[in-house]
Amino acid sequence: MNTNYKEWPVLLISDEINKNTDVGFRIRKISKILENDYDNIIIPSVSINDAKEIIFSRADIGTVIVDFDISDNKSHVAELLALIRNRNKTLPILLMTDKEQTENIPTKVLEVINGYIWELADTADFLAGRIIRYVDDYIKSVQPPFFATLAKYVKEYKYAWHTPGHMGGNGFLKSPAGVNMFNFYGETVFRADLSISVPELGSLLDHEGVVGEAEKYSAKVFNADFTFYVLNGTSNVNQIIWRSQLIDNQIAFVDRNCHKSLNYAMVNTRAFPVYMIPRRNGLGIIGPVKLKEFEEQFIKRQIDVNPLIPKDRKGDKVKMSALTNSTYDGIIYNVKRIKEILKHNVENLHFDEAWYAYAKFHPIYKDHYGMNKDELEKHPPIFVSQSTHKLLTAFSQSSMLHIKNGTHRKIDHSLFNETYMMYGSTSPQYSMIASLEIATKMMDDNGEVLMNDNILDAIQLRKKVVEIQKEKHAENDWFFGMWQPVKASYNGKLTNFEEIPDEYIASHQDVWTLSADNNWHGFADMEERYIMLDPIKLTFTMPGINIDGKTEEEGIPASVVANFLINHGIVVEKTDYYSFLMLHSIGTTRGKHGALLAALFKFKEAYDKNILLSEIFPESVAQYPEKYSGKGLKDHCDDIHNYFKEHDLINKMQAAYENIPEQSMKPSDAYRHVVENKVERVEVSERIMGRTMAIMLVPYPPGIPIMMGGEVLNEKSRHVLDYLVTRQNFENEFPGYESDIHGIERKEKSGKAVFTTLCIRE
Ligand SMILES: Cc1ncc(COP(=O)(O)O)c(C=O)c1O
Repeated sequence: MNTNYKEWPVLLISDEINKNTDVGFRIRKISKILENDYDNIIIPSVSINDAKEIIFSRADIGTVIVDFDISDNKSHVAELLALIRNRNKTLPILLMTDKEQTENIPTKVLEVINGYIWELADTADFLAGRIIRYVDDYIKSVQPPFFATLAKYVKEYKYAWHTPGHMGGNGFLKSPAGVNMFNFYGETVFRADLSISVPELGSLLDHEGVVGEAEKYSAKVFNADFTFYVLNGTSNVNQIIWRSQLIDNQIAFVDRNCHKSLNYAMVNTRAFPVYMIPRRNGLGIIGPVKLKEFEEQFIKRQIDVNPLIPKDRKGDKVKMSALTNSTYDGIIYNVKRIKEILKHNVENLHFDEAWYAYAKFHPIYKDHYGMNKDELEKHPPIFVSQSTHKLLTAFSQSSMLHIKNGTHRKIDHSLFNETYMMYGSTSPQYSMIASLEIATKMMDDNGEVLMNDNILDAIQLRKKVVEIQKEKHAENDWFFGMWQPVKASYNGKLTNFEEIPDEYIASHQDVWTLSADNNWHGFADMEERYIMLDPIKLTFTMPGINIDGKTEEEGIPASVVANFLINHGIVVEKTDYYSFLMLHSIGTTRGKHGALLAALFKFKEAYDKNILLSEIFPESVAQYPEKYSGKGLKDHCDDIHNYFKEHDLINKMQAAYENIPEQSMKPSDAYRHVVENKVERVEVSERIMGRTMAIMLVPYPPGIPIMMGGEVLNEKSRHVLDYLVTRQNFENEFPGYESDIHGIERKEKSGKAVFTTLCIRE
């Protein structure tokens, strides 16, 4: 492959660069040779502080040359070198010095450097050549095998006579719409889109060749016995896991707060679902399942009272348990404790870590993830699903499925592969595979540094919001808040979060651990050392409701703020009634903090001045003038807040989620009715009472099922009806705030939207 050295500049840290000294002259000469002969560039840095900035902000440095004389204080030089090495384990570091000084070079420096550049000993040509050798080796070392093979193949410019039909992009050039797309993405994307008939790249379905190597590498890095790359998201990872172990009429013990893909897995496997029920707090945030729900007696009771499980199966052991870790809102479980209990009661453990692929790479998450290395005496096979694409760096839909063998029961790779292949395409997208391998390599090389930077940045943003809120409260004013520990133990004293040093917060799990005593979180009966909050999942709170669920006199619905932010180019991850969630991933830049805070201040100003909605949401006002014209932003927030209050929407939502409705058939049997078209659309009103759902109903927020297929809407689940009707009426009252409810279709009746859903035909 032709190397483009320009993409990998050499960082030269020396204050001689611009001086009229012998050394300065030679540095400039070396720099010229690098530029002219190798098309490389030198980034000059004349001070240690400047060099540190560069090291923190750039990951494209090909080699660093450090002048040993950049400072008379050699411990400063040693500190700089340690910092470079800490941030990058393999980046070549060359020490520039003269031979006489060798004896004085401290061991700390010798330990981290890769070689020397003798200032005046060798020729400039020789030194430039040596530098390039280091750059060259380094570039090779950052390319894992699959990506290296793919990139090499793409650069070989072969004539392809195989799929995909666009043939390296050429097909797109035959029509203007295609040309437009080709120009947008650039040629490389298409040249790297190859057919499975390229033997050099191995086979994803057989896990052979460089693809197989990449999966094995990921397994090693993520602590798994096997890893499978899944190119259609964790939605499919979840189904593969269940389908591989569960069959008809076996029992699955599953988080009611699970992703809907697990509900589809219930349909596919025809399993009996038995639910764990997560707590909720007054803000409506979904919390953890109680630890005692994992105990044998509890599970047995759930099975006993389940009307669908026949008598002769009541004694069956749970075949698969599935828990969401972390939840959307950043609730993470001490998996070690759960494993210790569940290992006796279930045959397979599944942790859905779609939002949490980074956990292994930072000590703050110790013991809180499925692939944790622990010394459990005995455990069943453990399965973990991860959307690498969600919070690490992979193309969308690129996910990983990790498996750890049980102590006594090993998972047979080739048997498992039979299920894997059922969900895989025979035309995998190679760039997605490459992105999974690169995500692995990035975390392997410097995952802890990446995560630490990310956590520190998130902590700074958290503190800033708290500080602003405190300042405003002191002036009897308001600001947005943050759902997080208000105080934590620091130096043996309960200390305000914002007064604890960032590094301490980023390195002490106990700051984030939920407890019953320090109840900032609002969850009842919190067990000790069981749950922590993820520092990088930021829930912003608005005035309007307190942690106990009491509504306040005035309030700001989060959906209004979220719409405002969208108009300012800021998109939140999830909006609840009085909170929204922002994800702080390794792709988040500090610039985003500033933009977000500025937009929140703008909202505050517009709200405080009650600026006309026609200025804030002109499109909504133009579309629904009868509802919104002449109203100010504060009036609008008051109207919605009062509506929520008067109609008790939050409590209705809580009540709807608290009880599991009666099950009249398995989700898979309800689905059979869909296939056979033995279903009918029914209005969500009193008329629906007594009917069995054909499909699941999933309101967003919070995105978890309120009813499953096969469950009955009757007096036991009346809260569900109350909640849905209130939501429907709210939407009619406040057009533009329609939210997504999977399973609900709206039809128009006398100028109003009426919710309908699919029930089993009677
Ligand atoms: C807990 C959980 N599991 C699985 C998924 C599905 O992941 P993907 O989008 O990768 O299919 C999601 C998606 O939001 C999720 O929240």
